[in-house]
Amino acid sequence: GAPVTADISGLQEGQRLILEWRGQPIWIVKRSKAILDALPTLDSRLRDPQSANKDQQPEYIKGEGRSLKPDISVLVGLCTHLGCSPEMVAEIRPEPYDADWKGGYFCPCHKSRFDMAGRVFQGVPAPTNLLVPPHYYENDTTIIIG
Ligand code: FES
Repeated sequence: GAPVTADISGLQEGQRLILEWRGQPIWIVKRSKAILDALPTLDSRLRDPQSANKDQQPEYIKGEGRSLKPDISVLVGLCTHLGCSPEMVAEIRPEPYDADWKGGYFCPCHKSRFDMAGRVFQGVPAPTNLLVPPHYYENDTTIIIG
């Protein structure tokens, strides 16, 4: 499929832009500083906190945030278990998800949980982190997916 262009100039903190690329939903989320600060505190509870499995993202995507720009997360919006659509719960709040919930994605089908970098928690059915699609910045506010 052809690459898709995303204009993120109007994207506000906490908002998600949803596009389609190759028949899959692509999420572009602008994360708050509080969300970014919470990411490293979750590492011990995650299956693959440093994304060692290289099938989950392009090789230029590294670190806990899994993004080219610290605040902007680009993910394929499909659960890596059986492909349901996870819900975004961007606020840091405990209930009803988890006592240590710091925001993230919750799959209603079989209760897989991911953080705001799409990193999967331990003890849930989803085997890997959410996928990061190939993408790059054409300029400061334009992302090319694909
Ligand atoms: Fe998401 Fe099963 S499809 S947990």
